[in-house]
Amino acid sequence: MSDGNEWDPDDYDDDHGFVHEYGEDLLTLLDPEPGQRILDLGCGTGHLTAAIADSGADVLGIDAAPEMVERAREEYPDCRFEHADAREYAPEAPFDAVFSNAALHWIPGDDHDAVLETVADALTDDGRFVAEFGGRGNVARIVAALDAELGERGYDVATPWYFPSVGEYAPRLEAHGMEVTFARLFDRPVELEDGPDGLRNWVGMFGDEFFADVDETEREAVLDGVEDRLREPLFDAATETWTADYRRIRFVAERR
Ligand code: BEZ
Repeated sequence: MSDGNEWDPDDYDDDHGFVHEYGEDLLTLLDPEPGQRILDLGCGTGHLTAAIADSGADVLGIDAAPEMVERAREEYPDCRFEHADAREYAPEAPFDAVFSNAALHWIPGDDHDAVLETVADALTDDGRFVAEFGGRGNVARIVAALDAELGERGYDVATPWYFPSVGEYAPRLEAHGMEVTFARLFDRPVELEDGPDGLRNWVGMFGDEFFADVDETEREAVLDGVEDRLREPLFDAATETWTADYRRIRFVAERR
């Protein structure tokens, strides 16, 4: 998870539980077995780490956000968690698999070679890397609305997230000695919690970097403007529900 976002573990678990709920599907692809050593990279509040542990695997969760690691330790005292940055992490012993759900888009694209070096070094010779994160076009409408609203108000904001295509990411995996055996980019529209407040709560949870230079008094006006821009494509007035335009990249790569 990124250094530039402020993480609130309560809010993350209460209103954004879909992050780990969708991740449960990725566990099928990981297929953890008893005794296997598995690294959960970007473990957040640890729900999927604990689910992997339930399979009998020996799992370690790492995350760059200390508040998330603290919460994970409180919630799952029987699991192991460490505060660590995926770009620099050097494990004491190799892992049979590295798993990552909804975390890698927080690391800038330029830093992914460092992450993939960590992953390749962490794996046993035939180890596997099973991951999913935001793919090309992820939350594109939300990003465009934030850019337009902030741009019109004179703010110059760079998108804090990295959302690659399969064509872009597979060669990066291969360059680090991993063979891609499965890869997919797909739409996953996500209905947000909190009815009419769903979009502003999502931006409040994940979009701190867009607002780094925005005055507190202007923040609400920006959010009103973003909602106005997105009401037509993303809000269902009948159910009072916002739907975020998520797209995922998902892959399995095996170390060769
Ligand atoms: C995602 O899971 O795709 C995501 C979450 C928060 C911000 C950006 C992307």
